[in-house]
Amino acid sequence: MSLLIRNGEIVTATERHVADILVVGETISAIGQNLAPPADAEVIDATGKYVFPGFIDPHTHIYLPFMGTYSKDTYTTGTRAALVGGTTTIFDMICPSRAMSAKEGFETWNAQSAGKACCDYSYHMGVTRFDADAAAQLRAIVAAGVSSFKIFLAYKGAFGIDDTELYAALKLAKELGVIVAAHCENETLVAERQKELLAAGHTGTASHHESRPPLVEAEGVHHLMTFAELTGASVYIVHLSCEEALRHAVEARLRGVDVAIETLIQYLLIDKTYAERPDFEGAKFVMSPPLRDAKNQPSLWNALRTGLIQTVATDHAPFDFKGQKPMGAADFTKIPNGIPALEDRVNLLYTYGVKTGRLDLHTFVNVASTQAAKLFGLFPKKGAIQPGSDADLVIYDPSYRGKISAATQVMNVDYSAFEGWPIEGRPSVVTVRGEVAVRDGKFVGTVGRGRFLARTPNHF
Ligand code: URP
Ligand code: ZN
Ligand code: ZN
Repeated sequence: MSLLIRNGEIVTATERHVADILVVGETISAIGQNLAPPADAEVIDATGKYVFPGFIDPHTHIYLPFMGTYSKDTYTTGTRAALVGGTTTIFDMICPSRAMSAKEGFETWNAQSAGKACCDYSYHMGVTRFDADAAAQLRAIVAAGVSSFKIFLAYKGAFGIDDTELYAALKLAKELGVIVAAHCENETLVAERQKELLAAGHTGTASHHESRPPLVEAEGVHHLMTFAELTGASVYIVHLSCEEALRHAVEARLRGVDVAIETLIQYLLIDKTYAERPDFEGAKFVMSPPLRDAKNQPSLWNALRTGLIQTVATDHAPFDFKGQKPMGAADFTKIPNGIPALEDRVNLLYTYGVKTGRLDLHTFVNVASTQAAKLFGLFPKKGAIQPGSDADLVIYDPSYRGKISAATQVMNVDYSAFEGWPIEGRPSVVTVRGEVAVRDGKFVGTVGRGRFLARTPNHF
């Protein structure tokens, strides 16, 4: 099986030039001018199109058991949607309940993914409880190729861990050279504020933000920074949403803390007024940390542009507006948290980041692909276009014009947070290790071809 992609404008985090790309089997074999196609090759004309390295979403929740239900996408539906949107690798969060062992969590996620994914995937291993058994199991899971942990400072009584567990988990991560992704919100403040708001009769979606204002997130980040500084662990702040939290992370970085930062496409583009929409419409926009005041958005874009923030993810956690969000119709604390975006991240970032001049093309590729590959031990297999790299390629058509709509989306959820938003560009062809998986917005790949990416710790 071989592919010759002719005359595309190759854009990576650092390079930009027009050339042909020859793919033999699963990897890129040559890049150059006027390359001759092997006899069995499919030739794809990419004239007038960009060729990007496959995009990487470092934060998804596929079939997450959460708040009394499950996020809607399975490994098949989620990775199919990812591919249609140009994402060729996802990092999914293994989130065992506190009643489950780490080993059971790992096995559960493996059973859900094996033979069912359409694009490649890896995991961040959720540490939702820490004791001697967990430590032993976590060592085995790292040895099996999961070289990043995930911890929650939020979700009291569910995924959240206490400070004793946090300290021990970070010490183990430091010892193993594992990077720790962290949800930073002070869980006690959230729980107390929720109680106060409900007691005062504030049950609607607008109160979600009041229960978890920026200071609650900023305290979570400050807290994590203190623990990271004292343990020397490398940490990755997931879904950072506001300037107050960013300041604590950057201050810690100046003190020498090894911290990388992720924001979400949702925080860059939509704001807390969406969650205030009447008639429970706001529930579509309930996630944690909450969508913030729009005044935060210029700071987030600037931080991305200047390298203070490393990645743009989705935290994809789809819950149906009709069947699942109404669990919180009478009490905002019961609305399943999450805003789907896995399919739309790349097109939105291109349209509202690159086309508006907020990001250059290299930064776009860097924050949506290359940085995640580097931080989590996949570079240059992923996140790069060079001989030897996996042939995960996105031939991107910048002349495409369309609109996002739940009616046409591939994600398995009944609404879109970006309904009606115009997009200016989309993938016309997407390959997964040399196999064409998407043509003109349609999935044409193979269910089950997606592979678990075993990684080794690279963060000492
Ligand atoms: O609201 C969110 N973010 N839902 C998914 C779980 C998490 O906190 O990442
Ligand atoms: Zn989270
Ligand atoms: Zn998440």
